[in-house]
Amino acid sequence: MNPEQIRKDFPVLSKGIIYLDNACQTLRPIQVIEKINEYYNEYPACGGRSYHKLGKKVDEQVNNARKILQKFFNAKKPQEIIFTRNTTESINLIANSLDLKEGDTVLSSDKEHNSNLVPWQMLVKKGIKHEIFEFGNIEDFKSKLNPNVKLIATLQTSNLDGTSQPISEMIKLAHSNGSLVLLDGAQSAPHRAIDVQKLDVDFFACSGHKMMGPSGIGMLYGKYHLLEQIKPFIVGGETIEESTYETCTFLKPPEKFEAGLQHYAGIIGFGEAIKYLSKIGMENIRKHEIGLNKRLTEALGDKVDIVGHKEPEKRGSIFSFNIKGMDPHEVAIILDNSLDIAVRSGAHCCHSWFNKHNMKGSVRISLFAYNTKEDIEKAITAIENIISLA
Ligand code: ALA
Repeated sequence: MNPEQIRKDFPVLSKGIIYLDNACQTLRPIQVIEKINEYYNEYPACGGRSYHKLGKKVDEQVNNARKILQKFFNAKKPQEIIFTRNTTESINLIANSLDLKEGDTVLSSDKEHNSNLVPWQMLVKKGIKHEIFEFGNIEDFKSKLNPNVKLIATLQTSNLDGTSQPISEMIKLAHSNGSLVLLDGAQSAPHRAIDVQKLDVDFFACSGHKMMGPSGIGMLYGKYHLLEQIKPFIVGGETIEESTYETCTFLKPPEKFEAGLQHYAGIIGFGEAIKYLSKIGMENIRKHEIGLNKRLTEALGDKVDIVGHKEPEKRGSIFSFNIKGMDPHEVAIILDNSLDIAVRSGAHCCHSWFNKHNMKGSVRISLFAYNTKEDIEKAITAIENIISLA
């Protein structure tokens, strides 16, 4: 893979910015931008309901995008792919659709993003228990499993430090306990190949904007028989087969979960982004990011406090750190103002974990396919300069 070549597809990079905030949102290649424009220029109509030529074209493109995602994640059938706004909405859908009863328990790790923490906290008010295990600690995870645990809702890869959990083993343990598993794949899907059948995961959520797709579009994968069983969350137009003034019957998945007019340009653009990623190859992306992370770690490992594993291989695309005596936001602002280096700072929507560790947050460099060795050398020099002034 050639990052120099890839960069040419990203118009905003020609402005000279060094974009290292990919865990928040990635940039989009021209192919995705053109695909979004194609919708607005050529067939800006409703999908799923209109029999005219423009409507048919929207259906064809949306179906095609669904099939691209099905193939990418190796789902059994396209109907297992539901389009949502983002990972957050996908998780909320499950939290509101699963038939959880008083006394049932949902298990999550201590490193969840607020989006996979707060939806479960809301259920506690209805008598559902939400318990926490230590991220990646299989023994602790096992000790929390019991017949009341109906769902494990946890992340595959952490957005705050890039580390991953032994998820295959956890899914096996969960299933032998009779629990379902919902994986927050927001930070894993953009950086490694995901095979939902091989993982045997029940539900998997991710976002288009973290994988070169448009913002405002995400995905929920679910095993088809489970999607058939659970009730829809947001209801209304296009989820309904028939209605009277008192009753209604819902369509089958995925339609029963996709209420109202959809973000057609987003769906179609998401499909194009997945095509683009597939062409580069997920394993190539992963190796490239680890290579850059190794260089960051080698140059800065002794000069900053790294959050998470010391070994870069275990942090994949993320280098999260603190400089002694400096506020993370202050570091991020200096990097942006002095050299147009974009990083994220703060608690990264994981306040609970930072509070537990008495930390204010961190500065986070997050990498992707278009980042180069040159980007990294510039970031290293800039951070060394900040350290020398601290
Ligand atoms: N969850 C995204 C991040 O980590 C927004 O930046």
